Amino acid sequence: MILITGGAGYIGAHVALELLARNEDVLILDNLCNSQRSAIERISTLAGQRPGFIQGDVRNRRLLDTLLRDYPIDAVVHCAGLKAVGESVHEPLRYYDNNVGGSLTLCQAMAQAGVFTLVFSSSATVYGDCCTMPINESCATGQPTNPYGMSKLMAENIMQSVASSDPRWSIGLLRYFNPIGAHPSGLLGEAPLNMPNNLLPFLLQVASGQREYLSVFGNDYPTADGTGVRDYIHIVDLAQGHLCALDALRERSGVNIWNLGTGRGYSVLELVKSFEQVSGVPIALQFKARRPGDVTCCWADPQKAADELGWRASRSLQDMLTDAWRWQCSQLETEWIREAN
Ligand code: NAD
Ligand code: UD1
Repeated sequence: MILITGGAGYIGAHVALELLARNEDVLILDNLCNSQRSAIERISTLAGQRPGFIQGDVRNRRLLDTLLRDYPIDAVVHCAGLKAVGESVHEPLRYYDNNVGGSLTLCQAMAQAGVFTLVFSSSATVYGDCCTMPINESCATGQPTNPYGMSKLMAENIMQSVASSDPRWSIGLLRYFNPIGAHPSGLLGEAPLNMPNNLLPFLLQVASGQREYLSVFGNDYPTADGTGVRDYIHIVDLAQGHLCALDALRERSGVNIWNLGTGRGYSVLELVKSFEQVSGVPIALQFKARRPGDVTCCWADPQKAADELGWRASRSLQDMLTDAWRWQCSQLETEWIREAN
């Protein structure tokens, strides 16, 4: 059985679905601080079977001990965490407590229970302002410019240390680039509870009339069109990378770092243009100053994951945007039906 912390969230739910599709037993632990119970229903509908679900906090050591004792858990995918960069600047202690404290408590409980296989949701943000593109796993980690990024790096460091102290650990640090998109069914996707910070969720709200315009943060970067370049990866490709990592960890010990990206970067304006093409909806833009802490470019060298995991992202930017738009439209329909009743 695989325990997924944060499994009701955007990434964890897609990982749960892929695991269930492979007939793995899944137990989700989530405190629902940034997700809803309906995600579990959606996973169950799509998978045709229900994952186990416990509403609880990954920092609750007693709860973890009980779960690791009572369920036949042999590996953990640790997605639980807070992820809003701006919020982390204003509430650093909450971010360190949740992201670092949660990872520490989880490692302690796993060690005590004798469960040593762990896949961790890390981020390309740990590379900081890396100047060599594409970024491979031997690039030095940088100095993250915000407490969120720092908390990911600190959690990685904890995992490096525990793995060095005991050879029974098999840990996969998955450094995600920019996951976007939704399940092609339109039933599962990212549902920000507050004002979205990331590009695509914001753009989707502009497209559906919930917001007036999209701010483009900076058009004076040294890139082809002046806007920032990122490696956007389809959420289903990303989720499948976790299954490949779990498989690979059966044969590997210590800490293994894998970039999960496509290897191709797109600028903000390229993404907006592609979205307009797939949806037929024009997006109003306003050019603004650069967002503090943003890097110019960030895209992955995904070769290590290809060599060691046999994994490569296969879905195009058009697939990502089509699936995201389908999800957004289905969300709106659900809201209209709710309001009409
Ligand atoms: P999300 O907010 O949709 O999912 C995180 C889930 O964890 C939520 O359901 C939330 O309720 C839960 N959670 C948070 N703190 C918890 C706690 N203490 N105990 C139990 N549950 C808790 O975010 P996501 O996009 O699915 O991200 C998953 C992980 O991947 C996070 O750790 C995030 O930092 C990391 N990550 C995300 C991205 C991205 O672009 N989405 C990029 C890089 C890394
Ligand atoms: C951000 C975080 C990263 C985190 C990831 C997922 C920063 C510096 N980095 O990545 O640590 O792992 O989110 O939570 O915040 N953009 C606009 N207008 C918008 C929003 C974004 O122009 O309204 C631009 C940004 O300047 C950037 C690109 O779009 O060039 C992507 O931004 P975003 O989706 O927020 O992701 P990252 O900044 O790459």
